[in-house]
Amino acid sequence: MQYRKIGNSDIEASVVAFGAWAIGGWKWGGTDANQAVDAIDAAIAEGINFIDTAAVYGFGVSEEIVGKAIEKHAREKLVIATKCGLRWDIESNHLHVESEGKRVFRTLSADSIAWELDESLRRLGTDYVDLYQTHWPDLHTAPEDVMQALIKLKQAGKIRSIGFCNASLNDLEVGLATGELDVDQEKYSLLDRERAADNLPLCAKSNLSFLAYSPMAQGLLTDKLNTPRHYNEGDLRIDNPRFSQENVSAIVDVLAPVRALAADRSQSVEHMVLAWTLQQPGLSHVLVGARTAQQAKHNAQAGSVELTAEELQLINDAASTWRGFV
Ligand SMILES: NC(=O)c1ccc[n+]([C@@H]2O[C@H](COP(=O)([O-])OP(=O)(O)OC[C@H]3O[C@@H](n4cnc5c(N)ncnc54)[C@H](OP(=O)(O)O)[C@@H]3O)[C@@H](O)[C@H]2O)c1
Repeated sequence: MQYRKIGNSDIEASVVAFGAWAIGGWKWGGTDANQAVDAIDAAIAEGINFIDTAAVYGFGVSEEIVGKAIEKHAREKLVIATKCGLRWDIESNHLHVESEGKRVFRTLSADSIAWELDESLRRLGTDYVDLYQTHWPDLHTAPEDVMQALIKLKQAGKIRSIGFCNASLNDLEVGLATGELDVDQEKYSLLDRERAADNLPLCAKSNLSFLAYSPMAQGLLTDKLNTPRHYNEGDLRIDNPRFSQENVSAIVDVLAPVRALAADRSQSVEHMVLAWTLQQPGLSHVLVGARTAQQAKHNAQAGSVELTAEELQLINDAASTWRGFV
């Protein structure tokens, strides 16, 4: 496993992180807490020290499961990241999403951020988080004010580094001007490369870590695509047009040369996809969702795969045949 620093901090985080959204259950067709704890244990055993969760994942469930999993490990060896800004217990004037009878609102007021952090620390069973991130921008709170609220929490010793997710270039510039922003977390995969044109180049030239979320396009960039899938009720992929048969067939074609390369190297498509992502200029870590120990172990192994320039080019060529989602 390779480790890279988080922004300006001295925190060394594994390049493959355990993404803890799916184990929260909500939007992912439920969860099995024991299986999820086993998955985190397996990830840690394979050298992953970096876990990314959020208050809203399963409305606290993901953080509670992470808390349960980490209680038997040395806290100082782990890099725990969580997020604030999406509230399901209060209403604000910025509705984020309404789904399955739940309404989630955005808010990044200083009071709300401080309250949310204390709730997250309680659920995680720790007295600090290594990386605290805003989950989505709140159109009613200026990024300058958000940064000041986060810097205060850092000065209080409750957080060690600061990140923005789903951020505009302007938000990142505001954060960078304070000298205290360490992370930009964005959707990025072989099928989703929009941020390669804006945020990624900024991260490459500044000291911001770029954390790629959904790097396997929520399962579309895995070998599972070759067999018909069944998703549990409540799984966000059931009615999502990105998972239509038309898109899946096109992705199978895009991945054909990647699959051949994986076979030549006696590795898997997932390993090729994650290693390619990690070798994109400016990109520092991949946050990979897993729900079983087998998946977590397999994904962790991508953290020690190095692709040659020729192999990178082969995957670039395959990626350039992707026509986009229809
Ligand atoms: N900041 C944000 O707004 C934001 C948004 C999205 C995600 N994230 C972060 O990024 C993390 C990862 O994103 P994600 O969970 O959306 O997508 P992802 O990592 O691209 O895909 C995860 C899914 O891929 C499948 N999978 C995982 N390992 C596999 C393997 N070895 N072989 C075959 N299939 C495998 C699993 O689906 P099955 O259940 O079908 O097996 C898993 O749930 C999240 O957990 C979260 O930490 C952040």
